[in-house]
Amino acid sequence: MQKAMDVAATSILPAFQAMPYATPCRRGRPGLSVFLFNKFISGQKKGNSKLLPVPVVPGWPVIGNLLQLKEKKPHKTFLRWAEIYGPIYSIQTGASTVIVLNSTEVAKEAMVTRYSSISTRKLSKALKILTDNKCMVATSDYDDFHKMVKRYILTGLLGAGAQRRHRGHRDTLVENVSSQLLDRIKTHPQQAVDFREIFESELFGLSMKEALGKDMESLHVDELQATLSRQEVFNVLVLDPMDGAIDVDWRDFFPYLRWIPNKGLEMKIEQMHFRRQSVMNALIQEQKKRIASGEEINCYIDFLLSEGKTTLTEKQIGMLVWETIIEASDTTMVTTEWAMYELAKNPKCQDRLYHEIQNVCGAEKIKEEHLPQLPYLNAVFHETIRKYSPAPVIPLRYAHEDTQIGGILYSSWK
Ligand code: HEM
Repeated sequence: MQKAMDVAATSILPAFQAMPYATPCRRGRPGLSVFLFNKFISGQKKGNSKLLPVPVVPGWPVIGNLLQLKEKKPHKTFLRWAEIYGPIYSIQTGASTVIVLNSTEVAKEAMVTRYSSISTRKLSKALKILTDNKCMVATSDYDDFHKMVKRYILTGLLGAGAQRRHRGHRDTLVENVSSQLLDRIKTHPQQAVDFREIFESELFGLSMKEALGKDMESLHVDELQATLSRQEVFNVLVLDPMDGAIDVDWRDFFPYLRWIPNKGLEMKIEQMHFRRQSVMNALIQEQKKRIASGEEINCYIDFLLSEGKTTLTEKQIGMLVWETIIEASDTTMVTTEWAMYELAKNPKCQDRLYHEIQNVCGAEKIKEEHLPQLPYLNAVFHETIRKYSPAPVIPLRYAHEDTQIGGILYSSWK
């Protein structure tokens, strides 16, 4: 039984407790909108005839539905259940009851209309450590800290103005990726091209420049007493934390068994956190020296060091900058990789896209200004996101006040 439970936990945990959307990306799962909550009161319990009862997916005693979710793609199971039970139903994952919202309408109601009522996160121990206790835009509860850092990330990085200022970095990425691909084709015309190898590295470079102003070849990290190569820095900042996020601590499904030690996992996560923090400290110290020498760059760290100097600690700044590196480095890569895969498999679609681009751009290289004239390219992107969403399942959200979604009343979990 223990073995079977571990298998179930291994595959379901990424979806339920993983880093906000980042973890499922690495596996490139096909997509659907699924949102999860726990603790609810159905209309029946409240005795309110206007509110609906919640269908329950039958499961096993103690483990509930964990075994039924043992596939690598739990959102496909959710979809199957939605066809039987409707867009809102309840499942049992170990000791917790979870409500699954599985249609565009209820997902929209949850994430737009009721967003402020359902935005409390309860993280696994591993994620508490990896997110430095929710110190990220994407994992913080909907509170003053969240509102402040959301404003910062929009002004300093993701908003239209910031994206305009970072245009040059994106152009460089496009230029570098296309010249490397052309180069490969010229030098090894018969060999398969490893798209990921080229794109992953360029994307990491882009996120480093947007976040810290500079890419790097290597980095000396005092706290680790070592000089890390660029690949090692990528591992510490991106790959290791993602692996840590999907590592399973089965006690998360059975909080009453928390007293049983799981030291190996805890130490592994603590070490990841320490290495990540050490690298971020070294990167930030470098940028501080640069700023002190009078060289300012239009990037997120410069923005945070100036805007957040009275509102954020240095540790928080480190976490917020790291957040943008990990969030940008995987989602975009996985989506682009799937788009290339589908186009390679569907020559008709590839031809249609090629001709659209040729008609609009002619002999010119494709630029961001061309994008509004390229509806088929836009459709390819959306179809890729639909079929292979890097984030098909949103990690658990909790109602922190009574609220209602799809005719069902949810009570605060506190
Ligand atoms: C194809 C690319 C991407 C996809 C599919 C994607 C998907 C998502 C999803 C589904 C969420 C909601 C998570 C939740 O509510 O639990 C989210 C949140 C977020 N994403 Fe992305 N993302 C992508 C790219 C990026 C990039 C490049 C960044 C750059 C930093 C980023 C930064 C964020 C942030 C900061 C949040 C939290 C927003 C908030 O809570 O208000 N994402 N993303």
